[in-house]
Amino acid sequence: MKSMQRLMMLIALFAAINSTAQTTTDPKMKPFIDALMKKMTLDEKIGQLNLPGSGDIVTGQASNSDIGKKIKEGAVGGLFNIKTAAKIRAVQKVAVEESRLKIPMIFGMDVIHGYQTTFPIPLGLSCTWDLKLIENSARIAAVEASADGICWTFSPMVDISRDPRWGRISEGSGEDPYLGSQIARAMVKGYQQNDYSSNTSIMACVKHYAAYGAAEAGRDYNTTDISRISMYNNYLPPYKAAVDAGAGSLMASFNEVDGIPATGNKWLLTDVLRKQWGFKGFVVTDYTGINEMIDHGMGNLQTVSALALKAGVDMDMVGEGFLTTLKKSLAEGKVTQKDIDDACRLILEAKYKLGLFKDPYKYLNEERAKTDIYTPAHIKAARTTAAESFVLMKNQNNLLPLKKGGTIALIGPLADTKENMPGTWSVATDLKTAITVREGLQNVLGSNAKILYAKGSNLDADSLFEQRATMFGRDLVRDGRTAQQMMDEALAIANQSDVIIAALGESSEMSGESSSRSNIEIPQAQKDLLMVLVKTGKPVVLVLFTGRPLVLNWEKANVPSILNVWFGGSEAGNAIADVLFGDVNPSGKLTTTFPQNVGQIPLYYNHKNTGRPLTDSLWFQKFRSNYLDVSNLPLYPFGYGLSYTTFSYSDIRLSSATLGKTGNITATVTLKNTGNRDGAEVVQLYTRDLVGSVTRPVKELKGFQKIFLKAGESKAVTFTISAEDLKFYNSEYKFVAEPGDFKVFIGGNSVDVKEASFKLL
Ligand code: BGC
Repeated sequence: MKSMQRLMMLIALFAAINSTAQTTTDPKMKPFIDALMKKMTLDEKIGQLNLPGSGDIVTGQASNSDIGKKIKEGAVGGLFNIKTAAKIRAVQKVAVEESRLKIPMIFGMDVIHGYQTTFPIPLGLSCTWDLKLIENSARIAAVEASADGICWTFSPMVDISRDPRWGRISEGSGEDPYLGSQIARAMVKGYQQNDYSSNTSIMACVKHYAAYGAAEAGRDYNTTDISRISMYNNYLPPYKAAVDAGAGSLMASFNEVDGIPATGNKWLLTDVLRKQWGFKGFVVTDYTGINEMIDHGMGNLQTVSALALKAGVDMDMVGEGFLTTLKKSLAEGKVTQKDIDDACRLILEAKYKLGLFKDPYKYLNEERAKTDIYTPAHIKAARTTAAESFVLMKNQNNLLPLKKGGTIALIGPLADTKENMPGTWSVATDLKTAITVREGLQNVLGSNAKILYAKGSNLDADSLFEQRATMFGRDLVRDGRTAQQMMDEALAIANQSDVIIAALGESSEMSGESSSRSNIEIPQAQKDLLMVLVKTGKPVVLVLFTGRPLVLNWEKANVPSILNVWFGGSEAGNAIADVLFGDVNPSGKLTTTFPQNVGQIPLYYNHKNTGRPLTDSLWFQKFRSNYLDVSNLPLYPFGYGLSYTTFSYSDIRLSSATLGKTGNITATVTLKNTGNRDGAEVVQLYTRDLVGSVTRPVKELKGFQKIFLKAGESKAVTFTISAEDLKFYNSEYKFVAEPGDFKVFIGGNSVDVKEASFKLL
């Protein structure tokens, strides 16, 4: 009887929930959760904080599995990386029909750059500098993921990184906090739509908080040690932008910050995140993040679990530290009931906001998978987006675009591999659906040209390295022939052709998690091949696959054309062909600096001037800040990228030479398409604060516009600058704009710019 009454009460409570959008301001949320929490036992509350992996769930056995048993006991708050509405329905059913309080679970997944339809890796996506396109890619990902039962994504990844050795640089938006913040906002909006009422809005989880991208020596999971002022000015802004955009959840990072792992770092998770930024969502750890604090040297599982909870973690991914120790810690006074209640409330609130109490099956419409996933419209968007992400690095004598005719030699280990097109962290896609370069060329050329193909070389001479670099089904199918035999075959087709397209670089798993490199060149076996191909004297186009900036000195000096295509997603091959043959004019611009060698790292455009900058020389000066053996210049700077047309910039016209504390000034240039093809240019605005209470970067991105111009067309491009744009965190971590002299720069990359000056009053 008692349980019947309880059930009736719950049903009444659930029915009372408004049918309109569930937002944080919904007045019914608090009373609903208050009432629910009153009924919850301590174990059930702790259970909500538990996020195990999807474990042993097999369709049809959900109830009998080990996880199923825990779900019935109310010991699971959610699951992740399980997909399809049918599978998820089976486990959700256990939660809402067989557990005592029938609390629905939340289902997460790493939907990072698309779902079944994949978009370019995030680093590539950022090179579009097209916020609408980026938002749309997240929207499509949300539509597809939700059609497969997923309501929570572990994205956007907004870690700023200045270190291309770090494999996860591929998962973020590059080195710039301003651009990174804009992209963070666009992604959150794309996933959540500022409104969870629709069953295609999924909850974002901004990660990895914080400063994961500053891992020392670029080695994944390594210590970070950065000053707090750099943290505020360079690393925190994109997380804050995502929080301001309403991201429903946030993931703590693996690394330590100020000597305390982020997962147990109260300053990060409570003082900054909640008190300074007013974050209202919940915090989840990264995979076994709590348990890893044992190896960090923070104590045993009970100690580190209590540390995490008290620091501000709400949900424990995989490690079950909360599940197995919090009760004991409460009894021993190491955590309080309030600590547990606060975390539990935030998890329940997330479920409430998503509408799961109203309808636990909201995201579980099996029909949607048939109509909403991998649709022609999504595939088309993937193709357009991929083409926009490519960066044309070099194009000697306008070799590109190629003519749709003649004989083309397509050579290289990346030319005909479906598995390596989507790029790292594309866990939901069927790799077999991706379009290879070879297929793309065939699709775009039809019978207009003859395509000859040879693999040319393995990924690398070292088979063990290749094994490590082709995990998770991304096999390149190692060729048993000798390097010479493969090269000879490639040369034979090269000699019969009018042009050589060399598809070389990294395999998709050479970047991403746990894929750091100390040598960031194209693997030697492929470089050897490239050298031989260039030596034939035939025109060579290098189609470069990479998840990070690479060192490309020889390539830059010797290969006529280089098109950097990152990992373009489902439609990579088609998009590559679109650009190679001129159906699309490339417009991508780099969002990370390409160094001349690994010794220059970290090398980034928004560096400080130092007390001994180089003066008039670009090379060596004794007792100045430079190297004996390499200049300070990058190989390719931040913001760089060519087009099949050319653009000219007029001088900057400022509306006033002074800017007040309120109000604004405008900076205008006339942009002209001076070539004979239509094309788009990313016009970039930078400023420099010449004198500050703390040292200021030599340049900081403050705005950008992607402008399309027909051949010969001109347009005035205007940016508005206010004191707000000039703010930075000072040595007291206050966000201020300081009066004084500023420079403003506008140009097509961070180096080639026009310059003007103004004063902030
Ligand atoms: C990664 C996260 C990811 C999580 C869940 C971790 O290893 O660092 O980025 O979201 O796994 O798959």
